Order: sequence, then structure tokens, then C-alpha cells
Amino acid sequence: MQDSLLIKAAFSKPTERPPVWMMRQAGRFMKEYWEIKNKYSFLEMCKTPELAADVTMLPVDLLDIDAAILFSDILVTAEAMGGDLSFTAGVGPRFSNPVRTAADIAALPEVDVEAKLGYVRDAIRVVKQRLNGRIPLIGFAGAPFTVMSYMVEGGSSKDFKLTKLMLHNHPELAKDLLSRIAKVTVDYLNMQIAAGVDAIQIFDSWAMALSWNDYKEFSHHYIAEIISGLNRKDIPVISFCKGSSVFAPLMAEARPDVISIDWNADLLDIKKRLPQGIAVQGNLDPHILYADKKVIRERIHQLFERMRGEPGFIFNLGHGIMPDIPFDHVKYAVQVVREFRY
Ligand code: CP3
Repeated sequence: MQDSLLIKAAFSKPTERPPVWMMRQAGRFMKEYWEIKNKYSFLEMCKTPELAADVTMLPVDLLDIDAAILFSDILVTAEAMGGDLSFTAGVGPRFSNPVRTAADIAALPEVDVEAKLGYVRDAIRVVKQRLNGRIPLIGFAGAPFTVMSYMVEGGSSKDFKLTKLMLHNHPELAKDLLSRIAKVTVDYLNMQIAAGVDAIQIFDSWAMALSWNDYKEFSHHYIAEIISGLNRKDIPVISFCKGSSVFAPLMAEARPDVISIDWNADLLDIKKRLPQGIAVQGNLDPHILYADKKVIRERIHQLFERMRGEPGFIFNLGHGIMPDIPFDHVKYAVQVVREFRY
């Protein structure tokens, strides 16, 4: 896989065009996803290796993208830590047993990752067989702060009020919880690497809720711990957060190979401020994919012209594809990237 566009770009080597994949590419904007989802629950899909592999392969077969991302969720680590997780349409993820007190944290079990999350390892093996060396497979996990927010709030949140209260009133409790999540995440990602993933992405979707100092203390620190704990050799690590236009210089200190940038920033400006050898991924506003094809093409070319001559650039969105974006717009965007030549 070292010769694939994704891995070359991730290690800042020159490529004839930028590689393309999209966050949430294995999802609801595809009718083929719904054909599976209508028969099984989301967690059943994640936990049945053949089904997880079927969904992982949908964008590979239908979109012709340059990397597959494993079909799973960032919250499986929290479930493995004892969270009673459910997903309901229109509500999103819920934990019926939120973790809010010292007693809740002390009661969290030791996690044997192979025993609890072995279904992810098995799904990776099935996907790798089906990919048969065609393109790389990206494994992933949630960053401790983002995962913690779901455990504390008991689900999605607009303002992260309870999570931030824990950080501010009981920082030692928050750090205990974050350390436990980080430890499970290291084991979990090392299991994914051993099972054959070719790259890793860490998702810190809600980092933008934090101040600079809180990001440093309660998020960055644990991401750095995870990255340094990976047995990764030639496996690149992509660090994603919403808020990366602000936090990118700190994110770089955790030594990822790639930083995935949200759509607020000018990608080249950010890249120039990063140390040599750190690649960038991004950063089309996903809303552009609702617009006319002419606009999609123009905006992608505009981004590519800006990045011309810069090795270390992976095309992606600033965040995930929304479920109601038309499939043929996504397919068109991939085609525009594939036809581009520097
Ligand atoms: O990118 C991919 O296609 C791979 C699969 C993937 C999913 N979730 C599948 C999913 C990945 C990489 C994730 C990561 C994830 N999960 C994140 C980080 C990425 C981001 O978008 O910021 C977060 C915050 C979650 C937590 C989560 N999972 C939420 C908040 C929800 C419900 C709300 C929503 O966005 O739909 C999920 C459910 C989920 N995860 C679905 C899918 C395909 C929808 C399940 C369904 O069909 O109802």
C-alpha cells in the first residue's frame, strides 16, 4: 500500500493528483446503505463483520474513491467501557448510564479490547480480503475528549454543559476518565493495525467547543498519548478535529502525519504554518455538494490550484457528508478529483 496515492500523500510524497475519500462516505446518502439498514440495526451492522464489510465496500464499488474507511462508530470504545449504547433514528446515540461522578468513573471496568471489540478486528480482516490490495483501508477511533462528551452527556449535546462542568469543577475526575479512554483507544487502534488497516484517523469532532487552554489540557494531551502509543511503523496517522483551523499548530505537536482541516481555513495558509513533513487533508465545505455540479467543479479546482505544487495533500471534506446530499453530486465530485492532473 506504500505506493497508493493516499499513503504517499499522507507521508508528504508527490502524487500525480490528490487522493480522494470523504468522511461519512459509508452512509445514508446511498440508497444501497438503506437497503441494508432497513434490515438491521446500526449496531448489528457494526458488529456483524460481513455486514460491516458490505457497507465499507459500498463507496469503493460505487464511487471509485482512493481509500476505504471501516464501517463502525467512534462510540464502540465507550460501549466496550460499559456504556449502554443505543442509536435511535432522529435522536442519535444514547447512553442510558451516563458517567458523571467519581463513583461512576471508579466503577468502569478494565477493558479487554480483543474480547469486547474483536468484531472490529474480524470486520477489518473481511474488508482487507475483499479489497485485495486495490486501495488502502482507514481504521479509526474517537479522540478521548469527543468520546468523553458522549459518556458524560449521555448522548449528543449542543453546548457540552455537563462535560465542561466536569472539566472545570473536577479536572482530576475528567483526567481520570480521559486517561481510561486513551488507554482503551491505544489498545483498540493497535488491534486494528495488527488486523491490517493501512492508515488511522482520530476523530475529535467536538474539539471546537473548547478554549485553547482547555483543548491543550483535556484533548491534545490525550491525543498525543494515543499517537505515541501506536505500533505504527509505516501506518500514517490522520488527526481530525472540528476547530483545526485554530488548533492545527497544537495538533502538530502530537506528531500525526496528516492534519484534517475544517472548512473555515485557507488550506495552504494552514499548511505553511505547520512543520515540514506534516500533510493536510480537507477541506471542502460539505454544503458545496448540495450546489450545482458547475459549482462543485469550480470549488474543487479552486482548492487544487491553491494547493498546486504542495506534496502532502489529501482531498476530503471539512466534515462528513450529510445524509441528504444527492448521491450523483458525491460521485461527480470524486470524478472531478480523479480526472485532475497537476
Ligand atoms: O466515515 C464513514 O463512512 C465510516 C463510518 C463512520 C460512522 N460514524 C458511521 C455512522 C464513522 C467514521 C463515524 C464516526 C463518528 N460517529 C463521529 C466522528 C465523525 C464526525 O462526523 O464528526 C461521531 C461524532 C460519531 C457519533 C455518532 N454516530 C452520531 C452523533 C451519530 C448519529 C448522528 C448522525 O450523524 O447520524 C452516529 C450514527 C452513525 N454513525 C451513522 C453512521 C452511518 C448513522 C446510523 C444510521 O443509519 O442511523
